[in-house]
This record gives sequence, C-alpha cells and structure tokens, in this order.
Amino acid sequence: MTEPLIVVTALEKEYRLEGKRLPVLRGIDLAVAAGEQLAICGESGAGKSTLLHIMGGLDRPTAGRVVIGGEDVFHWPDHRLALWRNEHVGFVFQFHHLLPEFSALENVAIPLLIRGDRRRKARETAAALLDRVGLGDRLAHQPGEMSGGEQQRVALARALVTRPAMMLADEPTGNLDRQTSREVEDLLFELNREYGMVLVIVTHSQRLAGRMRRTILLEDGMTREVSGR
Ligand SMILES: Nc1ncnc2c1ncn2[C@@H]1O[C@H](COP(=O)(O)OP(=O)(O)O)[C@@H](O)[C@H]1O
Ligand SMILES: [Mg+2]
Repeated sequence: MTEPLIVVTALEKEYRLEGKRLPVLRGIDLAVAAGEQLAICGESGAGKSTLLHIMGGLDRPTAGRVVIGGEDVFHWPDHRLALWRNEHVGFVFQFHHLLPEFSALENVAIPLLIRGDRRRKARETAAALLDRVGLGDRLAHQPGEMSGGEQQRVALARALVTRPAMMLADEPTGNLDRQTSREVEDLLFELNREYGMVLVIVTHSQRLAGRMRRTILLEDGMTREVSGR
C-alpha cells in the first residue's frame, strides 16, 4: 500500500466545561489513502464532528497525532495551520456557512483570494466551478436568495475551488429534503470522481453511508471498521 494521505494516531480529545472533563475521543487510530471515500457514522454526541474538525485542522487534539501528506499539522502555530487548511482542506457543513452579505461568486472566490490569486483570475475560476455545479445563472445571488440545495451546491464549489486533497463533509445533506439530498449527493460523487480528492462524510444516513467505499462507526470514543476493509 502506498503511504496513506491521512494518518491519525492515538488521537484523544477531551473538552473541559466548568472544571469537569468530558472525554470524547479516547484513542483513535485511522489511516485514509489518497482518493479514498470514508463515511463516519455514530450516534448524536459520539464525537463525529469533533473527529472531522481535528482531521481538517479546525480544532486541536488533546493528545495524539495527525499526519497529513507527511506533515505533522498540529506542530504548526495557528496562522500556519489556517493557511494550510485553506489550501488543502475543503469543508462542507450541514448548514452551508456561506457569508450572507456576499454573492455566490464572491463566496466561492474567497479561498482563492486568501491564498493570493489575482481578483480577476479568482472570479473566473469561481464562475467556472459554479457553472459546473449547475449555478451558472446564480452568480450574483446571495445565500438568502437561493434554495437550500443551491446553497449546498455553492458550499461544495467553495470547498473545492482550491482543488484540495481532501474534502470533509459534516452531514452535508442533513438539512435537505429527500429529493434534494439525492441530487446534492450525486453531485458530490461526480465531483469526487472528477477531482479525486479524499472524501470523508459524517452522516446519519444509512443510504449515503452505503454509497461510500468504506464506513467506520464511532462509539465510546473509539472507531470500528464496519465495511470496506
Ligand atoms: N466546544 C465544546 N465544548 C464542550 N463540549 C463539546 C464541545 N463540542 C462538542 N462537545 C461535546 O462533545 C461531544 C461530541 O460532540 P460532537 O463531536 O459534536 O458529536 P457528534 O457530531 O457525533 O454529534 C458531545 O457530548 C458534545 O456535547
Ligand atoms: Mg456533529
């Protein structure tokens, strides 16, 4: 096997609230190969979002390591971690997390502007990707002027615009009706085929998990392989 893209070792996370310790992740070991599809399932409160956020460098672990593309990412200070994240990780959340005051085009262009692309080039790249996700005629719409499915398509475009090596999606269709969920899922899988990024999806949906090549279950702070290996 080639070196996996993501290697999580002895990962622990505990939160502290009012002096009390709340252990959420209790020693997770996980390797994800480049281009792999992984579904993370588990009960509400099991720690799925916590794990996903740590895998993408949005939150720091209490103990353990996350090595991505050979880099021990939590050795870096916050500003370096943020730059790395912008370039290499695409996040999609249950609620789109788009900036409400900005158009679809601007929302998708922002990660490119952050990394220093010229304004004109960033807008062209963003427009092409919005066209690809079926929103070529919604470029000037703000999030509040789009349907839930359209908002998630914009969120997918924003997550992919830097061509990241990994896309991390937290209940990406959890807020959509059945038909719209299916359409957004289909688009997600098409983009995964085209871009070849690692796709990690946290989901409650058995149907969506069933479409992924590999599934793990998070329970009592530990992971267990359910299918795919
Ligand atoms: N920032 C935080 N501070 C304290 N506790 C938190 C925080 N974030 C999550 N938790 C707790 O950690 C546990 C796991 O949360 P989470 O990862 O969001 O679970 P899931 O996504 O599986 O529903 C929950 O019990 C939650 O209340
Ligand atoms: Mg969650």
